[in-house]
Amino acid sequence: MKPAHPGWLLLLGTVVALAAPKPDAPDAYLNVPAAGNIVAVPISTPGDVFLPPPIIDIPQDKAGDMIKLGRLIFTDTPRYARRFTGNALSCSNCHLSEGRKPGAAPLWAAWGMYPMPSAQPGEVWSFESRIQGCFRYSQNGQGPQLDSPEMTALVAYAQWLSTGAPARTELAGRGMFQQETLAGRALTSASKPVYSASHGQKIYQFQCAVCHGADGLGVMRKDNSYQFPPLWGQASYGGGSALAQVSKLALFVRANMPLGRGGSLSETEANDVAAYILSKPRPPDPRTGWRQRWREARR
Ligand code: HEC
Ligand code: HEC
Repeated sequence: MKPAHPGWLLLLGTVVALAAPKPDAPDAYLNVPAAGNIVAVPISTPGDVFLPPPIIDIPQDKAGDMIKLGRLIFTDTPRYARRFTGNALSCSNCHLSEGRKPGAAPLWAAWGMYPMPSAQPGEVWSFESRIQGCFRYSQNGQGPQLDSPEMTALVAYAQWLSTGAPARTELAGRGMFQQETLAGRALTSASKPVYSASHGQKIYQFQCAVCHGADGLGVMRKDNSYQFPPLWGQASYGGGSALAQVSKLALFVRANMPLGRGGSLSETEANDVAAYILSKPRPPDPRTGWRQRWREARR
């Protein structure tokens, strides 16, 4: 018999891939790219920065199941941590490439730094408290309890991603706000910048609207996960998120957006587009909302 034409094999492969089991069982996810994950994983050249282990290295045991669950929660938060989320964002919409991308607060660079002093003098942040903060301010939900399976799984996933990374060491690529581009240009926040939201609007229309929509509301898939997350409006992250500050949003955008072309905007362009985005409405910071004020009044 004549060997099958490669085109047929490709077609067959596609059919098999489409007919693959629905991703209910964590195992089914193993070879499937994460929701909205356009940037390939891993994104960095080995040697440049720490390289977290590949997915196939997740151990096939109970501990491995917890890591897999953590990965699912991280990449499809509204589905796998439903009771704690208030919007449809996933952690990986901001912590890009499943929490692996340098310059987008990768988990492997964060894990070994905690506990660490918080912004409040004399107070300490635990890794878990940072996760709770993101649930509260970026996911507009509630921080999961320390002993909840969601928290255990997320911590297990972060710990696994940092396998082999030195602890208590500021690794290249840590955080979202002081990064270098791949071309090596330093990204720093401008001192006393003057923002122009109207200039930002033009940049938004040319550079961002194609994915995030002219209305900034993003694009949702049929399964209610975001193909492109919203940048403003009631479905976006709240006013308490660090990304609700112009200077910080600008640094995130400059390092990571437009997706796949991080480092292409100038400092002014990034500042202005951030100012434009933050001139639009979004959910309030829960610490300053009416609920908080009501609670404080009753104390
Ligand atoms: C090619 C499509 C594309 C373009 C163009 C693009 N983005 Fe994004 N952006 C994405 C995707 C996809 C994500 C979520 C990443 C993920 O889930 O892997 C994202 C995430 C973000 C986030 C964090 C998530 C959130 O909810 O806020 C911000 C902020 C952002 N983009 C801003 C911008 C800005 C500003 C521009 C224009 C300078 C831009 N993006 C251009 C695709 C794009
Ligand atoms: C809307 C964007 C957004 C979403 C969604 C989000 N985060 Fe974050 N996260 C941030 C920002 C911004 C920071 C602060 C980064 C910094 O300080 O450099 C952060 C910081 C963190 C840190 C500390 C990182 C470090 O380097 O110390 C952890 C851990 C974390 N987030 C976990 C999560 C988890 C888990 C989820 C999902 C439940 C999540 N985040 C969802 C934006 C987001």
